[in-house]
Amino acid sequence: ARKIIIDTDPGQDDAVAILLALASPELEVLGITAVAGNVPLALTEKNARKVCELACRPDVRVFAGAKRPLVRDLVTAEHVHGKTGLDGPELPEPRMALDGRHAVDFLVETLMAHAPGEITLCTLGPLTNIALALLREPEIAPRVREIVMMGGGFFEGGNVTPAAEFNIYVDPHAADVVFRSGIPIVVMPLDVTHKALTTAVRVAAIRKLGTPVAVATAQMLEFFERFDEQKYGSDGGPLHDPCVIAYLIEPGLFGGRRCNVSVETASELTMGMTVVDWWGVTERPKNALVMRDIDDDGFFALLTARLGRL
Ligand code: BDR
Ligand code: CA
Repeated sequence: ARKIIIDTDPGQDDAVAILLALASPELEVLGITAVAGNVPLALTEKNARKVCELACRPDVRVFAGAKRPLVRDLVTAEHVHGKTGLDGPELPEPRMALDGRHAVDFLVETLMAHAPGEITLCTLGPLTNIALALLREPEIAPRVREIVMMGGGFFEGGNVTPAAEFNIYVDPHAADVVFRSGIPIVVMPLDVTHKALTTAVRVAAIRKLGTPVAVATAQMLEFFERFDEQKYGSDGGPLHDPCVIAYLIEPGLFGGRRCNVSVETASELTMGMTVVDWWGVTERPKNALVMRDIDDDGFFALLTARLGRL
């Protein structure tokens, strides 16, 4: 199985991504590192543990990481995810303990203890933990097989400002460190995730599985989509973070192009904008595989089938 570490700020869509990973035998989750993002760290690390217990996997190690971005003040998104970050289902308080190690220590120590190319990082939130790990021990960069990231928006524009997507906007300086790290990166931007819509038919198919995981997932999706559905007038909301995990299981569901991605960290107007050299008009290194297309029916078929295994 492919070894992954999930860095996350749950978040309903983060939660579904974690469930998809835990349901997939192709993937071995070495640990989950929580970061401040959708809600503060105390809630994201707790939510991560709630999700592991929902999946009956209290053995998965969960670590708490950065409480705030590198430079800017923390911006959260309770208006999307609710007060707890995981509003929708009534999940019990977790009984499994948080691992005592700091997430950045876990990232550095685990990467240094494995051979180069063994570990893939799946990032579903602001990139603060990953940047801190890279700054603390630059030797980890050549050891990471790949970063598969939910972040950015190109042709689609931003979802928190006209220019910026939430994960990059919250910590643009961390994103800048990551995109300059030389690590191969696969980017799932809004251009992809806005095509992965939780339509009523798709949510009903998940609920129909009838398991506690399926029912809780349907409740999470229904809560989460309210905001985007109203905002965009679409049938269902975009299911961002599970696209990262689906790519690792079935990469053929996605299509994109290798190009350069740079992050704006200076201008207030376009802070956190991901600037993509789609047409290769610069000599900048092609540091990312930027996805643009998704087989959305295939994606939901995969997700639904996998959730049925939990
Ligand atoms: C990203 O922001 C968060 O609200 C979601 O969990 C996702 O990771 C989408 O912009
Ligand atoms: Ca997220």
